[in-house]
Amino acid sequence: MIKARIIGTGSYLPEKILTNIDLEKFLDTSDEWIFSRTGIRERRVAAAGEYTSDLAVHAAHRAMEMAGVTAAEIDLIVVGTITGDFPWPATACLVQHKLGATQAAAFDISAACSGFVYALDAGMRQIQTGVARRVLVIGAEILTRIVDWQDRNTCVLFGDGAGAVVLAPSDGEAGILSTHLHADGSCWELLYQAGFGSRNPASPEGLEARLPFLKMQGNEVFKVAVRSLSEVANEALEANGVTAADLRLLIPHQANRRILEATAKRLGLADEQVFMNVERYGNTSGASIPIALDEANRAGLLREGDLVLFDAFGGGFTWASALVRW
Ligand code: COA
Repeated sequence: MIKARIIGTGSYLPEKILTNIDLEKFLDTSDEWIFSRTGIRERRVAAAGEYTSDLAVHAAHRAMEMAGVTAAEIDLIVVGTITGDFPWPATACLVQHKLGATQAAAFDISAACSGFVYALDAGMRQIQTGVARRVLVIGAEILTRIVDWQDRNTCVLFGDGAGAVVLAPSDGEAGILSTHLHADGSCWELLYQAGFGSRNPASPEGLEARLPFLKMQGNEVFKVAVRSLSEVANEALEANGVTAADLRLLIPHQANRRILEATAKRLGLADEQVFMNVERYGNTSGASIPIALDEANRAGLLREGDLVLFDAFGGGFTWASALVRW
């Protein structure tokens, strides 16, 4: 089977910064509470008139530029998102149109904060089977438009952004060595958006009940997240016959600092092996891993031959990992 490798990374963060101090002005919260519980100081907020597909396109352009790939060469676009421009059509189709990638097939993947790793798996398999030669995999979210700004338990945690990678066939050691995807649908109610789908179609009463906004039971999510992130990371290491010490970098979903520190401790990783930018962006769901990857890559933290592990957990529940030889 052909191995798929990442040949370019890109990311885009909206300009507007919303700090914890800004939140104190309209919410019963404090910078001290938010930072001590989550490690978040600020998050980005998309501008009016800026949509998820726009964020995705900016990130895609940067990844394509690094990869030296033109829009005409892209065979497939997969977008991991739960905050697309519309419920349908797929945001990937809007991205395809905006990029002018007229030869590309396009679809979205809905796996919440695991969306990018799920999308990476889908893109990788098209390369592995020879169906596609250039695949754009994107994680893009505008969470600030589905959080309830009256709910201090949740709205302080999330932010907007996009990250992208270009996949191509590998002719050497570099490439995606494994992916492991999991789900447990029995936990759907612990982290979800109640409206407006077929269960709760759009209605004034639903709006009154704040159904279109994200709901979460934070404590429950926290416990399962730490366990699942460490289990799926260990699964990847064992499947490849390597140990945590062999990792150059763990790039986990940036949910919050306490989850990441607890996961790193369980895995026995040193601080410098764990990439963290949650302080600046909060939880950007499906976008967080490709944003972090692009920052690590552009900062020169990754060298040829390095082992990098992506580790994600999110609503569904879903959780997933991907081990990459850089
Ligand atoms: N500012 C101030 N106080 C807040 C607050 C905020 N933004 N949000 C909640 N509180 C209050 C609560 O109302 C509660 O007050 P009470 O005791 O008077 O009822 C108190 O703080 C403690 O709430 P609790 O939920 O027990 O806090 P916590 O220590 O568990 O931290 C989270 C809450 C959300 C930070 C934590 O549960 C968490 O990180 N969960 C995982 C969330 C996550 O990452 N989800 C995405 C996964 S992909």
